[in-house]
Amino acid sequence: MMGPFEDRTALVTGAGRGIGRAVAVELARAGARTVLMARSQDELAESARLVRAAGGEALVVQGDLSRPDRISDLLGGARDDLGDVDVLVNNAGVVWPLGPSAAVDAAEWAAAIDVNLVSAATLTFALLPGMLSRKWGRIVNVSSGVAERPTSMIGANAYATAKAALEAHTVNLAAEVAGSGVTVNAFRPGRVDTAMQTWIRERDPEEIGAALHEQFTDYHRAGLISPEESARSLVSRLPGDATGQTWKASDPV
Ligand SMILES: NC(=O)c1ccc[n+]([C@@H]2O[C@H](COP(=O)([O-])OP(=O)(O)OC[C@H]3O[C@@H](n4cnc5c(N)ncnc54)[C@H](OP(=O)(O)O)[C@@H]3O)[C@@H](O)[C@H]2O)c1
Repeated sequence: MMGPFEDRTALVTGAGRGIGRAVAVELARAGARTVLMARSQDELAESARLVRAAGGEALVVQGDLSRPDRISDLLGGARDDLGDVDVLVNNAGVVWPLGPSAAVDAAEWAAAIDVNLVSAATLTFALLPGMLSRKWGRIVNVSSGVAERPTSMIGANAYATAKAALEAHTVNLAAEVAGSGVTVNAFRPGRVDTAMQTWIRERDPEEIGAALHEQFTDYHRAGLISPEESARSLVSRLPGDATGQTWKASDPV
């Protein structure tokens, strides 16, 4: 049976583990050829193995998204293997720095904005012209509930700022390219059992703030959803023509 993404190429950032890995596998099941981007080579290799085990094709592009100025070189270097990218899932993200803003390292704050926001927009700007000329494309920016309620993660100022801006970028760009065949949507993945959640729980409560630490410990106690469940929710919405929306994993498709 033909999947909805047969003959399409999908680039997923942060595809080495967690939600990104699960999205890549789900896209492969839907017929897409996948391009997996992150830094950790061993994790990317395991994701590629899982994509192939699901019957898909995987190309690994190792790259550091904390350097948006290097993205065009990164894409240029892989251009021959990449071909046309039809689907872009900007999923790579970091939750650091956590803790009181009076003690934050401003360079670290800016680096987090680069990974969570500037690199996502930079990749989009690089791949959008091709999508527009082919009159078809799907861009999804992985956000967070913190964009809707910035006070829900006190001590995560860079993360809250980046995700809110990422959603504004999404809706603004969607309106700009409306009717072109290219859709741009945001996705809030829910509370997902990944390394990011583990990393927060493993921080010293005194370092990140006791309330934030307790909050994420409580989320874990109450039960997190699996990356696969979250990924299915994202990918099942992707073939449609909806644009400028914020999809939530918890909403019925
Ligand atoms: N888990 C949740 O409950 C939750 C909730 C709301 C939103 N989200 C969002 O969902 C997305 C995925 O999160 P996750 O929980 O799956 O996190 P994760 O398990 O920590 O995975 C993050 C991925 O991003 C990559 N990444 C991080 N920094 C990078 C960099 N500088 N360059 C390239 N790749 C980089 C990581 O690979 P390398 O480190 O190897 O580069 C990894 O593959 C993020 O945008 C996150 O904000 C997650």
